[in-house]
Amino acid sequence: MHSLDGFAAAKLAALERAQLRRMPVVTMRAGIWVERDGRRLLSFSCNDYLNFSQHPQIIAAAIDAIKNYGIGAGASRLVTGNHALYKELETRLARLKGTEAACVFGSGYLDNTGIIPAVVGADDLILVDELAHACIHAGAKLSGARVHLYRHCDLRHAEAILAQHRAGKKRALIATDGVFSMDGDIAPLASLSDLARRFDAWLLSDDAHGLGVVGDGRGSTFVNTAANAKIDVPLQAGTLSKAVGAYGGYLCASRAVIDLMRTRARTFIYSTGLPPAIVAAAIAALDLIERNPGYAAEPLRKARLFTRALNLPEAQSAIVPVIVGDAAAALAASDLLRDNGFLVVAIRPPTVPAGTARLRFAFTAQHGDDDIARLADIVRRQVSRR
Ligand SMILES: Cc1ncc(COP(=O)(O)O)c(C=O)c1O
Repeated sequence: MHSLDGFAAAKLAALERAQLRRMPVVTMRAGIWVERDGRRLLSFSCNDYLNFSQHPQIIAAAIDAIKNYGIGAGASRLVTGNHALYKELETRLARLKGTEAACVFGSGYLDNTGIIPAVVGADDLILVDELAHACIHAGAKLSGARVHLYRHCDLRHAEAILAQHRAGKKRALIATDGVFSMDGDIAPLASLSDLARRFDAWLLSDDAHGLGVVGDGRGSTFVNTAANAKIDVPLQAGTLSKAVGAYGGYLCASRAVIDLMRTRARTFIYSTGLPPAIVAAAIAALDLIERNPGYAAEPLRKARLFTRALNLPEAQSAIVPVIVGDAAAALAASDLLRDNGFLVVAIRPPTVPAGTARLRFAFTAQHGDDDIARLADIVRRQVSRR
């Protein structure tokens, strides 16, 4: 056996023993229903919060774009991949987020791995919420800056790190999810913004799970603010792959910052532009979000039906975790729900910290209230929570 294959096989065997091996399973999606391994299941494991990935108007916009522009973008946006639809999408994103400008990236993951190294480097400091998404951690590491993790949403800890380490560094960045992807809670953005100002640090929030769902669909910088006010977050990143139902990432910021990204962010420069159809779909979806904030409120309403039924802390977003402990217990709970007709995928380390394996429930606008009640009933009676 080649030594590389031996290495891979040994790694896989160890993961298998710890119940941590993962395998993609072919899944046919039709709205909130999926077909997997020959079973039809009601899915609570999809980030398509507004069910826009299958919306007829959005599909029609994508088909039109294919007819007009073809399939692929053909090159990086700085070469010839910057088709005409980008301008419209970036204008809409900036308007929705209340910033001067916006820049679209190839994905949410590519956002943070491009944005962070474009603003901080070896002489600088980054504070990252310990539960921030993997791409924020990856971007922080890639930047070469000194990285400190602060305890989840713990402002005092973040302040202590800044007090101890800020003075010796040129620039400082605080990076967090807006809505946390595996916990569903919202970062204390207003307080983080104050803290950043006090220590001359910049704040980046990744609102992958907030756009289209919280703050009248405008995201977590608009939660608990007066009408048309927003929390001052100079780097507002996010993705078009969740509530928007399409694909791609974005940064909304000042004109100067966006211009800097376009010329310095490596994931923008060295990666092919998005397919025109995807950009057209995102434009159509943002249009629906802007015109119908009531619809954007539905996933949170559904999540709250579930948390109330189970006496859990009230949902802050469309994501509700039910923590069961170890990986084997999470897999068993997921199997149990599957046998009752639901798809709720088990989330295991390293995606979440050891000992906090969980069922992650994602609610969408089209989930039925009765189905949610039945799901909650099964969880209450049959899933042991930690
Ligand atoms: C907080 C957060 N940021 C970024 C991403 C990555 O986004 P994308 O799937 O568009 O690469 C995700 C999704 O998995 C996420 O949850």
